[in-house]
Amino acid sequence: MPLNRRTLIAASLSITFVLAPLTSVFAASPAPAKGEHGMVVTAQHLASEVGIEVLKKGGNAVDAAVAVGYALAVVYPNAGNIGGGGFMTIRFKDGKSTFLDFRERAPLAATKTMYLDKDGNPVKGASLNGYLAVGVPGSVAGLEMAREKYGKLSRQDLMAPAIAYAKDGFILKQGDAASFAGSADRLAKDPAAAAIFLKPDGKPYGIGERLAQPDLAASLVAISEKGPDAFYKGAIADAIVKASGAKGGILAKPDFEQYAVRELKPVTCNYRGYEITSSPPPSSGGVIICEILNVLEGYPLSYLGEGSAETVHVMVEAMRYAYVDRNSALGDPDFVDNPVSKLLDKAYAKDIRDKIDPFRAGVSQDLMPKGFGESKETTHYSIIDNDGNAVAVTYTLNGSFGAGVVADGTGILLNNEMDDFTQKPGVPNLYGLVQGEANAIQPKKTPLSSMSPTVVAKDGKPFMVIGSPGGSRIITITLEAIVNVIDHGMNIQEAIDAPRIHHQWLPDTVYIEPFGLSPDTEKLLAGMGYHLDLADQTWGQAAGILVGGKSLAEIEKGGGARYNGAIDSRASSGEALGY
Ligand code: DON
Repeated sequence: MPLNRRTLIAASLSITFVLAPLTSVFAASPAPAKGEHGMVVTAQHLASEVGIEVLKKGGNAVDAAVAVGYALAVVYPNAGNIGGGGFMTIRFKDGKSTFLDFRERAPLAATKTMYLDKDGNPVKGASLNGYLAVGVPGSVAGLEMAREKYGKLSRQDLMAPAIAYAKDGFILKQGDAASFAGSADRLAKDPAAAAIFLKPDGKPYGIGERLAQPDLAASLVAISEKGPDAFYKGAIADAIVKASGAKGGILAKPDFEQYAVRELKPVTCNYRGYEITSSPPPSSGGVIICEILNVLEGYPLSYLGEGSAETVHVMVEAMRYAYVDRNSALGDPDFVDNPVSKLLDKAYAKDIRDKIDPFRAGVSQDLMPKGFGESKETTHYSIIDNDGNAVAVTYTLNGSFGAGVVADGTGILLNNEMDDFTQKPGVPNLYGLVQGEANAIQPKKTPLSSMSPTVVAKDGKPFMVIGSPGGSRIITITLEAIVNVIDHGMNIQEAIDAPRIHHQWLPDTVYIEPFGLSPDTEKLLAGMGYHLDLADQTWGQAAGILVGGKSLAEIEKGGGARYNGAIDSRASSGEALGY
């Protein structure tokens, strides 16, 4: 248990008054879910059940991840998908790890300036709406590679629950209905999407109503029977290419035929004795989390305290430096020479610390790299099985319901991942990211991501599984959950629920969730020169698992449940399920 101000105060109180346990000093959060044999945490309760059933019937964590991936495509269509892409980080029971990159690729006909008008200015919405926004999807190839290489069960077994939910439908709860209501106007613009997700009167499905998706069921059956070829080489690709051609897109059959998953070495780093395993490029996530953690390691965060002005100051400065690197230097490793070893070097972190003024906010414009001038939704799930295999998956359509288009007869929502590229250096994307040439559009290139499916280990054993949606904020959400557990002694639910802060170099603003900081702390930070944005909305939906207890204190006492799961209290339809 780290020694922080609160534990020091509580310890002195407990000497005097023999008071309540230390955990009582933390903010209220529901108790984490407990399990002795396995844990599945996803953003949709039916998908969590699907994952747990796979584990109970002898599947491993990878099998459960595949079944959940397909299930979410049906019961969580705003982000769950087979028309998008994502990443899977696996840490096996023997301590080895791997990373599957099944993110979208730019079509062969893509060009660097495809979203600019004749004057070189971005065309509003072109990289976000409709077929021109769609990257070549990777989810089906990725889930199948995971199953074939590392799973135990058949594709048919793992896809059956998703097919049943698509065919028979499922009853919407409040959280499910909210996601449809929020995107009804957008879905109404595409007749094929509207026919699935809106009722005949044009209204979105509401609480207690049943949503069935027969076309999606047919696509899933074809994939289940014939494998990924049904998607990439058969009628599904044909239908998407046809719709794309008819509606302003550039997708062609060879884009699908050539799609290949990459198996990559995950990024690893050590933070205060904990081994972090996370996403390598084409994600920026793992590298930037590690860069920030390396900087933070030089500060006594436990002592400075969660939410104090001093802690926020050093966190924001570490974020500022790391996001400049993210936005200027990183890109698809097949196209860009990523300076990963430099960014992960502890000496580089020390150089950054040396530049941080202990009393003043930094200035983002001062960090402008030379030559640089020229949403919802994603979803994350975390799984661990009885053997200790841990799987973290983040996959996405990018924006909520992606590009908002479905090719006739397929039932498959398509992504708008092309917006993650640099449309024009210096012009912000959907998440306000101001990016450079390393992430410029090129045919077959994968846009730079922030998705950070992460597994943390301690003494050779799995310790934490964590990740979140949240666009550019995924990195800081995941980072803060790790720091909250390791430095601030929170239990896994508290660590995920705690109010968040975020800074991404540009805009030079510290975003703070509602009730995130006290007015006194805000005043101290403003006095140091920070521009604060007191957001009126929360962000992210983290899904996490802690092994051996619900918090470090419980782990150290040896008295906790083996697996402790937490779905973000911000996630309205999710569930952590253990058994
Ligand atoms: O890959 C990325 O970084 C983004 N496409 C993720 C989008 C996302 O998290 C949206 N959800 N809030």
